[in-house]
Amino acid sequence: MDSNRKGPVICTKIHLSSIFCLQHMTVQLMLAVGTAVIGSLQFGYNTGVINAPQATIEGFLNETWYDRYSEHIPPNSLTTLWAISVAIFSVGGIFGSFSVGLFVNRLGRRNSMLVANILAFVAAALMGFSKLAASWEMLIIGRLVVGLYSGLSTGFVPMYVGEIAPTALRGALGTLHQLGIVVGILMAQILGIESIMGNATMWPFLLGFTFIPAVIQCALLPFCPESPRFLLIIQNEENKAKTVLKKLRGTDDVGDDIQEMKEESRQMMREKKVTILELFRSPLYRQPLLVAIMLQLSQQFSGINAVFYYSTSIFKKAGVSQPVYATIGAGVVNTVFTIVSLFVVERAGRRSLHLIGLMGMAVSAVCMTIAMALTEQIPALSYVSIVAIFVFVAFFEIGPGPIPWFIVAELFSQGPRPAAFAVAGFSNWTANFIVGMCFQYVEQLTGPYVFIIFTVLLLIFFIFTYFKVPETKGRTFDEISAGFRQNAGSGAEKYGPHDHNMLGTDSQL
Ligand SMILES: *[C@@H]1O[C@H](CO)[C@@H](O)[C@H](O)[C@H]1NC(C)=O
Repeated sequence: MDSNRKGPVICTKIHLSSIFCLQHMTVQLMLAVGTAVIGSLQFGYNTGVINAPQATIEGFLNETWYDRYSEHIPPNSLTTLWAISVAIFSVGGIFGSFSVGLFVNRLGRRNSMLVANILAFVAAALMGFSKLAASWEMLIIGRLVVGLYSGLSTGFVPMYVGEIAPTALRGALGTLHQLGIVVGILMAQILGIESIMGNATMWPFLLGFTFIPAVIQCALLPFCPESPRFLLIIQNEENKAKTVLKKLRGTDDVGDDIQEMKEESRQMMREKKVTILELFRSPLYRQPLLVAIMLQLSQQFSGINAVFYYSTSIFKKAGVSQPVYATIGAGVVNTVFTIVSLFVVERAGRRSLHLIGLMGMAVSAVCMTIAMALTEQIPALSYVSIVAIFVFVAFFEIGPGPIPWFIVAELFSQGPRPAAFAVAGFSNWTANFIVGMCFQYVEQLTGPYVFIIFTVLLLIFFIFTYFKVPETKGRTFDEISAGFRQNAGSGAEKYGPHDHNMLGTDSQL
């Protein structure tokens, strides 16, 4: 029995072959999935949107400061204001991702997504009118609110999609969340071209653009069904669940689905839910938890968001004449390699892919540093830095992009999994915040050598992964945790019969 495909968390397994099982695809299902992933698109869009128009919006900050205080903004204050505008998005993300549980079981999955759009509207208004109101406070609060929305979305969307998809399509449709994010980043980069919206008059529209996907999602969600899993397991409304399933599957024969959900709910009740506190206290989870946290940190401290937040300014400093187009190039590479990785991840070992990704990123970071340091003497090296960033992004999507989430899902069984995901999400967003906030300061200190710091971090994560991260592909929770116990060099007395219950679901079937 493949226990990974049973939980509410679906970012676990990707079955690309199932993309071709089109007989499972109904109009109702396509509509529901398409509507949901607008949330992923919004997350990506707001990650990428502040990259291209950085100089333009800094001009606005400068002007507004002048109007208020009758002096030009000191460079330090400008850096601070901009860093806060960029990074506060992740603070919203932290709170958002922690609040997912408050909504989904009370309002239902679909209505949670609907309600969250209030945040998107508020954020769009705050950011869109910040110039008119000559207020950078509105810009910053808007970024915070849209971060909240994004944190919620990264919980809602995979859950909803995973719960409405038929088993055969679950993996394939789950990957649409990832794809939505990278397409959102790319969209933001393209719309941020100066002649489109990345200029002094249009940038408020660029930021306020979030309004449009939100309107579309609100218009379509009422036509999407509530998750049958929510109806059946949480609300105990079997008839409603059946009605929804019949529409989604396009057939009256939904007995198997109902059976599977009931089995899953029984299984969940058998396994005690582990709280975050218990997760940290129990020696049983210490090793897997350390691995989960370190992998999340490796994703963010690889420096990927230094690229997605600041690449235009990086390219400018590297002597690239059209930095915005290089940024768009990075977005295209990102999208292409996300698709490539969908094909690779399922087949190759997680651990090897993560190691390859980290090493590839480290090598391209070194190349980029050399190119940037010498670009004064040899202007042609600016092309090398472009290529190096493209390769950097490509290797990210092969390893550190998708793998950490994969492995977290595979290290923990149903009981501790929600708590493990909360801790992982918190580590991820926090590291994201640190990079967004500090990158420019560190860059001011180090100049072209800033990526050396990421190189060192990447190598540390490489060594950690090499020695501490087990291969999880094709192994059960029991086997994985047995491996951890051997590593720790401790005997079986560490887990009693009570703990054994949490170890894995496979053995109990
Ligand atoms: C602010 O604008 C003025 C006038 O356009 C310019 O001289 C100054 O360099 C700008 N300040 C910063 C920190 O960019």
